[in-house]
Amino acid sequence: MKDFKRYLVTAALPYANGPVHIGHLAGCYLPADIYVRYQRARKQDIKFICGSDEHGVPITIRAMKEGITPQQVVDKYHALIKDSFAAMGISFDIFSRTSNPVHHETSSAFFKKLYDEGLFEEKETEQFYDEEKHTFLADRYITGTCPICSNPNAYGDQCEKCGTSLSPEQLINPKSALSDAVPVKRKTKHWYFPLQNYESFLKKWILEEHTEWKNNVFGQCKSWLDNGLQSRAMTRDSNWGVKVPLPDAEGKVLYVWFDAPIGYISATKELTEQWADYWQQEDTKLVHFIGKDNIVFHCIIFPAMLKAHGGYVLPDNVPANEFLNIEGDKVSTSRNWAVWVNDYINDFPDQQDILRYVLCSNAPETKDNDFTWKDFQDRNNSELVAIFGNFVNRTFVLMHKLCGGKVPPLHEALLDDADKNMLAEFDAARGRVEKNLEEYRFRDALFEVIDLARKGNKYMQDKGPWLIDKELKNNPDSERYANGVGQQLIDNCLHICLQLTANLSILINPFLPFTARKMCGMMKVVEKMLDWENAGKTKLLSVGYTLRAPELLFRKIEDAEVEAQVEKLRAGLVKPVATENKQEEKKETVEVNKREGEKETIVFDDFAKIELRVGTIVQAEKVEKADKLLKLEVDLGFEKRTIVSGIALHFAPDQIIGQQVVVVVNLAPRKMRGIESNGMILMAEENGKLYFVQPGTSIAPGSGVS
Ligand code: MF3
Ligand code: ZN
Repeated sequence: MKDFKRYLVTAALPYANGPVHIGHLAGCYLPADIYVRYQRARKQDIKFICGSDEHGVPITIRAMKEGITPQQVVDKYHALIKDSFAAMGISFDIFSRTSNPVHHETSSAFFKKLYDEGLFEEKETEQFYDEEKHTFLADRYITGTCPICSNPNAYGDQCEKCGTSLSPEQLINPKSALSDAVPVKRKTKHWYFPLQNYESFLKKWILEEHTEWKNNVFGQCKSWLDNGLQSRAMTRDSNWGVKVPLPDAEGKVLYVWFDAPIGYISATKELTEQWADYWQQEDTKLVHFIGKDNIVFHCIIFPAMLKAHGGYVLPDNVPANEFLNIEGDKVSTSRNWAVWVNDYINDFPDQQDILRYVLCSNAPETKDNDFTWKDFQDRNNSELVAIFGNFVNRTFVLMHKLCGGKVPPLHEALLDDADKNMLAEFDAARGRVEKNLEEYRFRDALFEVIDLARKGNKYMQDKGPWLIDKELKNNPDSERYANGVGQQLIDNCLHICLQLTANLSILINPFLPFTARKMCGMMKVVEKMLDWENAGKTKLLSVGYTLRAPELLFRKIEDAEVEAQVEKLRAGLVKPVATENKQEEKKETVEVNKREGEKETIVFDDFAKIELRVGTIVQAEKVEKADKLLKLEVDLGFEKRTIVSGIALHFAPDQIIGQQVVVVVNLAPRKMRGIESNGMILMAEENGKLYFVQPGTSIAPGSGVS
C-alpha cells in the first residue's frame, strides 16, 4: 500500500436548487464525515471539502419555476443547505460555492489551458432554439408528436408512451416546453472533450490499478470503458455559469459537469494557501464521496480532465453509495417524497445522532436500501437506547451506587477469564472498527462498536455486581466475599465497565460526535481523550477520579412520533407539475390511461389469502388527538377485536354501535396512535362519502365472506 502523507476528502457539491434530504446524507455526506472524523482522530493531515453547485440547468429551471433569478435561487438554497449540514454535524473544513470569483477564475483557467494545448474539438451543430425565451432547448425541453405512436406529448429524447428513443428532429410539430413557441433551428458552436483519447489511460488506471474499488463503482466504470468513450460537449448555450474564456464565445458557458468538480480545487484554494500540496503532491490520498449517479463524472470524466491538464493527483478511491428509498418508494423531489434534513432538525431537535445512527447502520453501501420510520424507531429503541445507552447508563448508576461515584481500583489478583477477555476485547474491537473504516465499510464499522457495547452488557449481567452487594448486605459474614473480596469483585467489574465506556466514546465518536461529547462530559475528560490512539487502552480513566451523574444518552422514540412523520410524508405528496426526472415522467404518463384506483389482475390464490368475516360493532369511541380515528370493538363471534378505523369524520360513535360490518381479520396488527388495530373494516365510497359494506340481513357474527 502507498504511504500517504495527507488526505483530501471531497463530498459531491449539492445543487443549490433545493434543500438536502436524508438520501443525500446517507449517500455521501455522512460516510464522508465519518471517514474524516476518524482520520482527524488519528491526527492525519486532512482537508474536507464541499460547497454548493450553483450552475447548470437544475438552477435555471428552479429559477423559472419560482419566478426568481438564478442568483436568488442559489443564495437561498446555499444558506439552507449549509445550515442543514452544520446542524447535522457534517464537519466540512469549507463549504464554498461555485459562484465565487475564485471558482470562476480557476475553472476558466483550467478550460483555457486545455484549449491552448489544442485538447478540445470545436464542432458546429444545428439545435432547436426558442426565440421567445432566447434559449437553445435541451432535449427534454422540446415536445411534439411521436412519429411512431402519435402520442402528442413525446419528448425530444424519448416517447414515454411507446418507449422509442427519439431525437428532436424526429418530432412532428415540435414545440418548446418552456414557452409553447415553435422552435427554429440555429447553428451553434461548442467545444468537445475527446474522452476516447483517454480510454487506454483510464482502462489501465481503473481496471488494472484500482481493482479494490467497490463493486458498484468498478462495475459501472468497466461498462463505460467496455462500451467505448466518445467526445462530450464541455460548453453550453446559456447566460448562467462560468463564461467560456474565448473571444467569440458570447452566450456560452462551461458545462456544469466541467466546472463543478473543479469546484473542489477552487474551494481548497479558498481554504488554504497550501492548496497545491493537497492537489499536486503524489503523496496525497484523494477520496471522492458521491452518490451512484455521479460515478461516471468522478471516475471517468474528471480524472480524464485532470490527466489532460497534468500536475494533479487522481482519486485513490471513489466510494459511491447507492440510493436510499423512503417507505418503499423512490425519493422524488418533485413529488415531495423525501425526508428533508431541515424538517428533521425542526421535528427532532438535538436528535442528530439518532438520524446519523440509522442512516449509517442502514446505509445503501452495496445496494439501494429503504428508510422507514418504523425502522428508525426500532433501531433507536432497540439498539441505541437498549444496548449502547443502557450499558453506559447502568455503568454510571452502579458506579455511583456501589463505588461512591469514583473510578474504583482494579484488583489484579482477582481477575478471572471473563474480566481478561473483556479487557482484551477493547483492542480487538478497535482493530475491527479501524479495518472497516479504512475500507469504507461504515455499516460494519458501526456494527462493531454496538457489538462491543452488547458484550459490555453481557459481561456486566454475568458478573451481576448488584447481587454481590445484596449478598454482602444480607449476609455480612458470607465466606465467599470475606476480607473485602466482595467489594473488590464489584470494583473490578465497574472499573472494567468504566474503561469500556471510555473506549466506546472514542470508537463511537466518528459516527455519533454529539454523543461522544456528552460522554466526555459525564466522564469529566477533555475531548482530547477521543484521540484514536487511546482506543483499545484499558487505563483511560484514573482510579479514584470522581465522575458526574449519568445523563441519558438517547431517548426512546414513541409510536406517535413516527406515525406523525409517516402522515406528514403522505400528506405532503404532490403530483409533479414540471418533471425534473425522466423516470418520474414515465410513471405519470403510464398512469394516465388507467381508471382511478385500477389495480393489476390477481389470481384466485391472491384473493384467497384474505380472511373476511362478518362482525358486529359493540363499542365505538373517538381516539384522542386524532380527528379521523375511531376505536371500535367488533364482535366476531369467536372473539372481540379492537380495530382502529379512519371513519371518525363520517360517523358518530353512538350511531354505529350494533351495525354489522365485514372485517379483514387476518391483516397484520398495526399500531395507530399507540393503539393496536387488529383488522380492517370494508367500506364503500361514493363522492367522498363512506358506507359500511354489510350483509343484506342480520346474520351471526363470525360468518365467513367469500
Ligand atoms: N451537483 C451534482 C449533483 O448533485 C454533484 C456535483 S459533484 C461535483 O448530482 F463534482 F461536480 F462537484
Ligand atoms: Zn410513441
